[in-house]
Amino acid sequence: MAQRGFIFDLDGVIVDTAKYHYLAWKKLANELGFEFTQQQNEMFKGVSRKRCLEILLQIGGITASEAQFNTWMVEKNRDYLAYIAHMDATEILPEVPKVLKYLKKMNIPLALGSASKNAVPILEKVHLKEYFDSIIDGNQVTKAKPDPEVFLMAAKQLGLAPQHCVVFEDAVAGIQAANAAGMVSIGIGEKEVLKEAHYVFKDFTEITVPFLDQLMKSTH
Ligand code: G6P
Ligand code: MG
Repeated sequence: MAQRGFIFDLDGVIVDTAKYHYLAWKKLANELGFEFTQQQNEMFKGVSRKRCLEILLQIGGITASEAQFNTWMVEKNRDYLAYIAHMDATEILPEVPKVLKYLKKMNIPLALGSASKNAVPILEKVHLKEYFDSIIDGNQVTKAKPDPEVFLMAAKQLGLAPQHCVVFEDAVAGIQAANAAGMVSIGIGEKEVLKEAHYVFKDFTEITVPFLDQLMKSTH
């Protein structure tokens, strides 16, 4: 039987950084004179920093010069980095280390597939970097999710065919990217939101060892 690989998104799957991204975008929106709600923040999940700012400015009805746009990108990231500065292993989402440990024990190759340019420092802060055989992040990808590029690059680095890879994702765009790559997609979040995923769980506490074993054997 062919070797399976598991690919994890970072924000909202391994760590709960969505709240810090939200606070940083909200701060910028407020400075520019408009509101930015948690509900609007849903659209930002899995989406590159540049695309997020484009959407934010659309919401606020603001047009910006390239120089101004770049200044706001830098400002948002500076605020985000300040929010995550003191992040530690307590911010890992429930049962994630247990699942990573089990997959490692079963010799499953693991990859990270994230749109974030801050992925590596975050993994280092929470001491999970050593679990990943391959890390593909916002510094390498050119096409944002829902384009499958990030996951196809991860599969390639693991030396596996896309159909032998399983993806854990919390974003609609991420599930679409995994499906477009021909992978098994596991949504982490709400069933009503992640409708296109092959399976959906509220969080990793709902994912059992027999289910992981089944994924290791499944043909897709
Ligand atoms: C993840 C998050 C997005 C974020 C993107 C870029 O995909 O879900 O909300 O915009 O990464 O993150 P970065 O850390 O590079 O700004
Ligand atoms: Mg995510």
